[in-house]
Amino acid sequence: MKRDNFSSKFGVIAAAAGSAIGLGNIWKFPYITGQNGGAAFILVYLICIILVGTVVMVSELALGRRAQSNPSGAFKKLKPSSRWNYTGYLAVATSFIILSFYSIIAGWVLSYFHSSITGKLINVAPNELTSYFENLVGNTPMMLFFTLLVIGITAFIVISGIQDGIEKYSKILMPVLLLTLIILIIRSITLDGAVKGLEFLFKPDFSQLTTQSVLEALGHSFYSLSLGMGIIITYGSYIKKEEDLVSLSLKVIAADTIIALMAGIVIFPAVFAYGFEPGAGPSLVFITLPAVFQGMPFGSFFETLFFLLIGIAAITSTISLLEVSVTFITEEFHMSRKKATILLSIGVFLLSIPSTLSFGIWSGVKIFSLSIFDLFDYIASYIFLPLSGILTCIFVGWVWGTKDAFNEISSDGLYPFSGYKVYNTTIKYIAPIAIFIILLYSTNIIKL
Ligand code: PFF
Repeated sequence: MKRDNFSSKFGVIAAAAGSAIGLGNIWKFPYITGQNGGAAFILVYLICIILVGTVVMVSELALGRRAQSNPSGAFKKLKPSSRWNYTGYLAVATSFIILSFYSIIAGWVLSYFHSSITGKLINVAPNELTSYFENLVGNTPMMLFFTLLVIGITAFIVISGIQDGIEKYSKILMPVLLLTLIILIIRSITLDGAVKGLEFLFKPDFSQLTTQSVLEALGHSFYSLSLGMGIIITYGSYIKKEEDLVSLSLKVIAADTIIALMAGIVIFPAVFAYGFEPGAGPSLVFITLPAVFQGMPFGSFFETLFFLLIGIAAITSTISLLEVSVTFITEEFHMSRKKATILLSIGVFLLSIPSTLSFGIWSGVKIFSLSIFDLFDYIASYIFLPLSGILTCIFVGWVWGTKDAFNEISSDGLYPFSGYKVYNTTIKYIAPIAIFIILLYSTNIIKL
């Protein structure tokens, strides 16, 4: 069977950046920056992205492209008769589990988008926004509906394949996302008092920086670039040999980072201008910002744009998450793309039900003192993801070998570059050790 391919350079960049740019950039990055003291945290984050992010991304792309296969097939092809294909299974399982709860948060966003566009959200009294949010996420039938909507839109795009689905829609959605962000930035930085927010973002105060924030920055850089869960391996397998993987990775990483910073430039000047606290945490977007928009002229319009922006960012990420399992099932079980997409979408929806219930009638159910939603997040994002990241580095560095990897990265010498030594050291030692430390820290094996 002939494999589909991305057809244009812009298409590949839009799709890979679409995966990387998601809730992580527009929801999580601003709030962890807010909690960790702003600019100093951003600086550490940039170092992590450049040092570890680039090397791991380039390696995952090379792995996929060389093997022309889904993650488990890729490990199997490059090291036959070994158990390395289990690393591929792990990556596929991770992306599938992440999709089940990522779709729930994306569902909250669509619901907020809906209540912004109908003008309902802007009329909720500021002191009632917290209970508005709690009632909403606790309303299980409604949340299941919005989660299903997210999964439905995702499946609709994935079913059409790489060129006619993912590439086509990413090429439309990513420019819309950028345009929306630019409009919001102009609004935010022209507010009275916006300067304080910009200072918070760009004037480093190292006294706020703790070891914990460094580890958080490292972990987030991995998540934000969609590494360690088979996505970049899968997308790599659809990239032509004539593409320059290093330049592609740098562009995707630059786009991911710039968009995260732009999201910060939208959020913090507005938060400071209206006298709110930057360190609100996860509720920053769902509780603080709606209050900010209420004070703003044409607030309802900007609020709608803002939730549209996060909605787009989330959907271009969910399509990449679903694509991993779809490629895996079509290739390993010889199933049609359509059938695989439909079955997997049903599976993801079913898996999302317990997490949704954990905000409603199952809110009292705790496993290891975590709610079901938090447990899924914990297992996938804090255990499986780093584990699969470490194994991928070890595989590329020690099993497949950096010489072969380097050859694939340079398209067999078509795009020579001189970083072999740095690449070799990073993928063999620095990256796996750094990720291992995140794993120890996030599983509480080391405490800070
Ligand atoms: N990178 C995306 C984000 O920052 O929101 C999230 C994500 C997408 C994580 C896809 C993992 C993934 F496989």
